[in-house]
Amino acid sequence: MTIQWYPGHMAKAQKQIKERLKAVDLILEIVDARVPESSINPMIAELGQNKPILLIMNKADMADAKRTQQWIETFKKRGITAIALDAQHKSKLPQIEKVAQEILADKLAKKRAKGILNPVIRAMCVGVPNVGKSTILNRLVQKNIAITGNKPGVTKNQQWLKAGQSLELLDTPGVLWPKFEDPAVGNKLALTGAISDAIYHADDVVVYALDYFKDFYPHQLEKEYHVTAAELELEVPDLIMALTKRLGFKEDYDRFCTKFITDARKGKLGRFTLDIIPVEAQA
Ligand code: G4P
Repeated sequence: MTIQWYPGHMAKAQKQIKERLKAVDLILEIVDARVPESSINPMIAELGQNKPILLIMNKADMADAKRTQQWIETFKKRGITAIALDAQHKSKLPQIEKVAQEILADKLAKKRAKGILNPVIRAMCVGVPNVGKSTILNRLVQKNIAITGNKPGVTKNQQWLKAGQSLELLDTPGVLWPKFEDPAVGNKLALTGAISDAIYHADDVVVYALDYFKDFYPHQLEKEYHVTAAELELEVPDLIMALTKRLGFKEDYDRFCTKFITDARKGKLGRFTLDIIPVEAQA
């Protein structure tokens, strides 16, 4: 689900999430593994008042596996525990509870020392639209709950749902707006579906994405669109013209751009990760 954000939405969502996070031990921040850095919301650390965060890189089945591993290492160097997940194709997600217990080991040990035999971990899923918050919540609680509150500013009575031996989840995920002042981040979020189709230009997204695929995933372009070695040398607008013709769309470049975005989102262009590992983290 993509959402059109307005300042009123943002303020309301921010206030609600801050209020709800007061009751949790752990924040489950869901990001898209194809854009693990661009889909993080910098407000979370602030709204969560420094509560521990488990970063869940979801849709790992669609991301470049090598980069996912590198990003996990990068986050570790930044002091953030991150795990890769494919919530759609797994019926159970036991690793979330296990890692949650590891992150909160000290707190849980203190509770046990006070005589609480089975201390409960209370957590809440948060993240930008379409990263898989509802899917993860449903998998964790092992039933299909209608997540009616999954919209900015929607209030309803909050409930804690059992999500494992020691894990309880707030029944409504927190939806945050993506940060995309940087046009490249906006293009990445658009390609992966976190921002609404109404607020980006398909041709900008495709110019950005084709340029990136030419550099990092040329074989995937060869495979899906039969791009030749000579075509890989073309400037991106010329490549778009060539591919539009090849697909029989004559001069309908918009049609090609729409198809490219749909193909990328459906996984037809293979696995990809758009966030590059920062140089300082490679050392
Ligand atoms: P949200 O609450 O964060 O907004 O996301 P939601 O769970 O609704 O998931 C968004 C889409 O992503 C859904 O597809 C869902 O099935 C898919 N999805 C969730 N987790 C994964 C994953 O680990 N891997 C893959 N490949 N897909 C995942 P959808 O129902 O088809 O919705 P849409 O694509 O039409 O928006």
